[in-house]
Amino acid sequence: MLATSDLRSRVERTTNIATLPDVVHHLGTLMARPSPSTAAVAEQIGIDQVLTARVLRLVNSGFCGFSGPISTIHLALVLLGLDVVRTLLLTASVIDIFDEHGRSLTGLWRHSLATARASAMIAERARMPHPEELGVAGLLHDIGKLIIAECFRKEFLQVRALMAERGCLQVEAEYQVLGVTHGEMGMWLLRKWQLPAQLIYPVAYHHDFEPHRDFADRTAVVHLADIISRARGIGAVGDDRVPAIHPDAWAMLALTMDDVAFVSRQLAADMEDHTV
Ligand SMILES: [Fe+2]
Ligand SMILES: [Fe+2]
Repeated sequence: MLATSDLRSRVERTTNIATLPDVVHHLGTLMARPSPSTAAVAEQIGIDQVLTARVLRLVNSGFCGFSGPISTIHLALVLLGLDVVRTLLLTASVIDIFDEHGRSLTGLWRHSLATARASAMIAERARMPHPEELGVAGLLHDIGKLIIAECFRKEFLQVRALMAERGCLQVEAEYQVLGVTHGEMGMWLLRKWQLPAQLIYPVAYHHDFEPHRDFADRTAVVHLADIISRARGIGAVGDDRVPAIHPDAWAMLALTMDDVAFVSRQLAADMEDHTV
């Protein structure tokens, strides 16, 4: 097994991860217009977790001189200007990531988008402030899975083999093979990229909820959103299991089963419009 410190320094040296080719194509078309709409560009970037993380990295890197942490794409683009999008597109890596059977992992983008939508809806039902920010946390929550698939190919294939053999959750197989999970690996990268803590905690702990941690309410939202999109069968997460919701997360959100049923139905309807 690789030493955790080696894993971490490899993750922190990651400068780019694959972006969905369709998103790059649509953004290219939008940006070719005489005066592209910031809202439309932000919406398109908000489909792809890697472009989203890269925009937030730019705006939070300190070089731009903005004071508070910025956690939504629209505000980031308003502050940075749309020219940064051209640079992002030029440097986007659109090489597809494949599983052990040579199938594209686009199901993971669809799962991430569904979890983003569900997170924002749950935050609204739970009357939490800034539901759009929860949407960003939901979008980014499984970015560690992309890092594993793209940067740790040998270990990724071992994880897949172990999941097939044991029928376990991907996090359980990751822990066996790597000694850490995609949550922690996503956290390492997003910390290095200086994203705000309120986005990083839900990414790090969405499979390991503890009520005493910072931003536990936000982590509870993403934890439940991940479960609802799995239960609804939207996209693909690697394993096809639906974990149980942590009782403390459920208590913290103080929702009813009617709320969950509403989010689940609404999510299915929303996602019908998306081909990702
Ligand atoms: Fe996950
Ligand atoms: Fe997930």
